[in-house]
Amino acid sequence: MSEKKDIISKHKKNLKLIKRHNQNYYNYDNPEISDAEYDLIKKNALDLEKNFPYLKQYNSINKIIGSKPLNKFKKIKHLSPMLSLSNAFNLGDMEDFLKKISNFLSLKKRMLQLFCEPKIDGISATLIYENGILTRGLSRGDGKTGEDILENLKTIKSLPKKIDIKDVPKLLEIRCEIFISKKDFLKISNKFANPRNAAGGTLRQKDPKETSKIPLKYFAYGFGKVSPMKFKTQHEFLKKIKQWNFTTNPLSSSVDSLEEIEKKHNYIEQIRSSLDYDIDGLVYKVNDLLLQKRLGNTSNSPRWAIAYKFSAEKAVTKIKDIVIQVGRTGAITPVAKVEPVTVGGVVVSNATLHNEDEIERKDIRVGDTVKIQRAGDVIPQVIEVDISKRIENSKRYSFPTKCLCGAETKKEISKSTKKLDAVRRCVRGYDCNYIAKEKLKHFVSKEALNIDGLGKKVIDQFWDLKIIKEPSDIFKLDYKKIENLEGWGKISINNLKNAIAKSRKITLDKLIYSIGIRHIGQENAKIIASFFGTVEKFAKIYDTSKKNNIYEGLIELDGIGETQVKSIESFFSNNMNLKITKDIIHELEINNYVGQSGKGIFSNKKIMFTGGFKNMSRSEAKMIAENNGGKVLGSISKKLDLLIVGDSKPTKKKIDQAKQLNIKIILEKDWHKMLNS
Ligand code: IVH
Repeated sequence: MSEKKDIISKHKKNLKLIKRHNQNYYNYDNPEISDAEYDLIKKNALDLEKNFPYLKQYNSINKIIGSKPLNKFKKIKHLSPMLSLSNAFNLGDMEDFLKKISNFLSLKKRMLQLFCEPKIDGISATLIYENGILTRGLSRGDGKTGEDILENLKTIKSLPKKIDIKDVPKLLEIRCEIFISKKDFLKISNKFANPRNAAGGTLRQKDPKETSKIPLKYFAYGFGKVSPMKFKTQHEFLKKIKQWNFTTNPLSSSVDSLEEIEKKHNYIEQIRSSLDYDIDGLVYKVNDLLLQKRLGNTSNSPRWAIAYKFSAEKAVTKIKDIVIQVGRTGAITPVAKVEPVTVGGVVVSNATLHNEDEIERKDIRVGDTVKIQRAGDVIPQVIEVDISKRIENSKRYSFPTKCLCGAETKKEISKSTKKLDAVRRCVRGYDCNYIAKEKLKHFVSKEALNIDGLGKKVIDQFWDLKIIKEPSDIFKLDYKKIENLEGWGKISINNLKNAIAKSRKITLDKLIYSIGIRHIGQENAKIIASFFGTVEKFAKIYDTSKKNNIYEGLIELDGIGETQVKSIESFFSNNMNLKITKDIIHELEINNYVGQSGKGIFSNKKIMFTGGFKNMSRSEAKMIAENNGGKVLGSISKKLDLLIVGDSKPTKKKIDQAKQLNIKIILEKDWHKMLNS
């Protein structure tokens, strides 16, 4: 017994030691020991792990990866944001994607030409060429601001440093994916968990000489700013840049039908393992660049592209227990604790069971043998039970009606379906410790305040030690106390201080998103922020004499409905929410929200549409109005400046109301004329 204890303690020491040496090597570029000494420590540690299989329940030496990089590169704002892609998981999702596009563009036919490329599982970067010379190279960062990794990118041999062609655009921004080939990865697999991490770690080396030791490769797949614009289709763009010596992926091609999409998908999935680089799906892009421009972007991803992921990896395991988790909106989610199993290279020990109805429908029980799947970054899920393997005397799972905090939970009636919701909720908000902790995690998350170094684990740790209880505590941390905690040192504390200081400066939409009002996601937060404009106006929401007026104004906004306004109302009728919001505002420097492009022919104009246009969907019309500085409202009021009337079935009542209020009316033909001018 005591021998076992010693061995466990030795294993833990090994883990710590290797982490430290990794950190010295990757972060500080200051190894204390030689490579050979490092290899020896690692070999001994691995032998110990092999000889005593019970050590598997602890972290494994092989899973320690190069430490999280420090803030050491210069931050630079992107010329245009680097977005992500929305995902499709089956042909039905692809059909929906095509349907949405043709609706948006108001096309009669469903299919338009798409260009298909492998989705490389690497690290994205953007390269800026001025008059053909590579002058800047940035990482993606948070999509708006990247890091200056030019010198490291320059170590990639096949990457053009100069484009020696007469007709090269004055400004050319090339988007590409950096990766390490599977073969090259084998040589350094002792240091990283997978090729993607290896590429990331290598790209963020402080010393480009270190980067140059590892053969990075890349595929160019897109463009950011280009001036003058020379390309008409994605296909033509790739062909051209290939002539300019960029590496493009040879498996790319255009597709013209759903059948072709399926065929291509099956084919590439089949040859996937024989490729020398990791791919996790195929990207489908509208080939015509003019149509891409018309389609534009939502807040996070372009409407003209989608990633069709390869089928999820599946595995069979056993449910050891079913526990519940409480989300930041109070939703109670059942989670199956399963016997650890590898699914697509990752060890899974938790899988979601979605909600009470799902457990009931599939009759999932503790002790059951189940199939689980993991698709991309999505949380693994239990998909089916193997009833033939059910143990005797197993009991149906009875779903708890109480939250982990002890309070009764409720199911609501859904406004849209008028049926009882499948999800149970704890409705205590910040008064429930479990919800409060999740709200904190949301507050610091990448999309909200984006505080580097305050990840989920740190929030759990600080919460348990009562260092943080509510968001504003983050700005009054007791660093003396933190310094004495395991895993914290001078450097990490300094980084945390810097990250927190940086996060104090945010825009109004981020504030509205970060306080975590149910039904108010990033997109709605932007609409609401542009309604208020300044934080001073927003703060009037907690002035009882003004709030009703505000709610009436909010409901007029296009995109905001009764559900959202009711949710805002209920949020601010809670005293704790009020206090927390005020405290946060007190700590932050909140800048006015400036809409996407903000200026144009509709600057500062409030616009409403009625009736349909001949060749333009309402969604496209709305996007055009907003891109040109307009604000689109959902109902007629004195505040409205323009009513745009489409030829197809406009509402007469709206036109009459607008006339009465002296609102300027613009007919369809004039709308098109305005846009063309
Ligand atoms: S197109 C979003 N094409 O996937 C803007 N992306 O999830 C259009 N990626 O950040 C992206 N291969 O790093 C595009 N052939 C490809 C790609 C690709 C890999 C990465 C890229 C992007 C991420 C989006």
